[in-house]
Amino acid sequence: MRALLLCGLVLAGCTAAPPPPAGGPTGQALYRSFDPQVDALLAQMTLAEKIGQMTQADQEFLTDEAHIHTYALGSILNGGGSDPVTNSREDWTAMVQRYQDLASQTRLGIPLLYGVDAVHGHANVVGAVVFPHNIGLGATRNPDLVQEIAHVTAREVRATGINWTFAPSVAVPRDDRWGRTYEGFAEDPALVASLGEAAVRGYQGDDPGAPDRVVACAKHFAADGGTTLGTGITLDGVDYPFDRGDARISEAELREVHMQGYVTAIAAGVATIMPSYSSWNGVKASASRRMLTEIIKEELGFEGFLISDFAAIDEIPGDYRSDIETSINAGMDMVMVPARYELFVRTLTELVEDGSIPMSRIDDAVRRILRVKFAAGLFEPDWSAEPLHVAAFGSEAHRAVARQAVRESVVLLQNREERLPLAAPLGRIHVVGAAADDIGIQSGGWTIDWQGATGAITKGTTILEGIREAAGPGTEVTHSADGSGAEGADVIVAVVGERPYAEMFGDDLALRLPEEDAAVIATASGAGVPVVTVLLSGRPLVVPEVFEASDAVLAAWLPGSEGGGVADVLFGTFAPTGRLPFTWPRTVAQQPLNLGDADYDPLFPYGFGLGY
Ligand code: GLC
Repeated sequence: MRALLLCGLVLAGCTAAPPPPAGGPTGQALYRSFDPQVDALLAQMTLAEKIGQMTQADQEFLTDEAHIHTYALGSILNGGGSDPVTNSREDWTAMVQRYQDLASQTRLGIPLLYGVDAVHGHANVVGAVVFPHNIGLGATRNPDLVQEIAHVTAREVRATGINWTFAPSVAVPRDDRWGRTYEGFAEDPALVASLGEAAVRGYQGDDPGAPDRVVACAKHFAADGGTTLGTGITLDGVDYPFDRGDARISEAELREVHMQGYVTAIAAGVATIMPSYSSWNGVKASASRRMLTEIIKEELGFEGFLISDFAAIDEIPGDYRSDIETSINAGMDMVMVPARYELFVRTLTELVEDGSIPMSRIDDAVRRILRVKFAAGLFEPDWSAEPLHVAAFGSEAHRAVARQAVRESVVLLQNREERLPLAAPLGRIHVVGAAADDIGIQSGGWTIDWQGATGAITKGTTILEGIREAAGPGTEVTHSADGSGAEGADVIVAVVGERPYAEMFGDDLALRLPEEDAAVIATASGAGVPVVTVLLSGRPLVVPEVFEASDAVLAAWLPGSEGGGVADVLFGTFAPTGRLPFTWPRTVAQQPLNLGDADYDPLFPYGFGLGY
């Protein structure tokens, strides 16, 4: 990938932006500090070039890769599942470099901000380290660890030449039946604010252009986790109860419960914010001037740019032309189109030319985008999309960080007879459940594919493999997916839980085990052998049969690629310290059930967790 010298030459009158000097401006002041360079570049730009910067296409929908050059697109993303044809670090890198090459050949040679959902590691790339989803990180209560995880993730993202992740989610899920509960750190705004800030600091550092950092994105503004039952989106004739629904709450609740993560993320210097698909009291966030301009930009002092969610403006009532007019005038800066980018460019151009959208709004949007690009180092003469930290990608050192996160994320909910930790001598441990030996199940959604998938979808250690490694030579470890064969074993370890899902496909009104796993528990409980159960889920589940059948129950959430961390807790290599980030209900009828509610009568309260 040739260095972008063209860019340094063409931006006459604009000195290449050196990285912020140590002790230089940080936080939101960092972005304003580039305004002299931004002004010089903006003054050179045509309307077409400005609109190009505001347009983000998904690479899988490019009908012609040359359109990156034709439309001078400002950004490309790989949305969920939009992977290169073959999926390796090298394939991702080659794809990114090909697109950056096309961007470098435009008149101004402005590089792409390249976005991906590296939300629990760079988990769409085979071989990347997959960290616990945010719900597990919430259970750790450890901001330093969260910051380290984000920093490791930034390095693995840069190892593919990518410079922007759509993370962290600072959602505050209030009803666990929402399909994105696991993307939230907790039901508690203060914990979300603390861990969200840590994640931003880990991804960006004080200099998002540093070789081991990426641009971050706090999402989804706001109250994406506060929607009302029954208001969710209807998609392909299916009504979803929560996702992309309507948060029918007061402004006080919006601020006190759902905005705290943005206050701390903005203070930590987050460069981009993603408005939510959902609505607040009937108004789509993507259409809300109150939310996008008055609150985020004017009140909270946000100086970076707003990126829409995936085709989110299409869900604004009205036709596509009015969607664009409404959202851009409300304060949206870049639109994740992601497919109809030619129509978007044409329509936005018409709206500016006929005065429906003032040029001042366009200039403000492009200013914000260019500020972030300067801060990301894209205009430094030696900038390139060369992959960095390649040796560290998927390394044992990175996996060790993930394993520690798994250890600290596990919450011990029950431990009758002090069944745990498992202690020698153990003649035979019989592990049951398909989920015990399935890296896809233990990773959950947003892994390799949008919805995730079962099976050996990426590199890592399954929980069964972790148990085998930890059990030592004197103990036989056997496994059956259906729960059979336990008779005569010293202990059964049942690994059961939810199958992978993402977004609306995770909306669930029952919060039960899949039939297959309920049967495993039933079979195991009839063997006359003590049972230890590991629950894999994106939220608390209503599973009384598990607590009845098991001496011990661990909530391991969605631990990711390093299943050995679960074995560390089972065998006492690491005593459990995890604490519930979400209230664990007795019944699903109690939902939503959150700390502070009047009639608060959970099975296990927020913050609960046993030790050894
Ligand atoms: C998705 C999600 C958002 C993600 C974006 C790009 O629909 O809502 O979290 O960052 O699209 O994949």
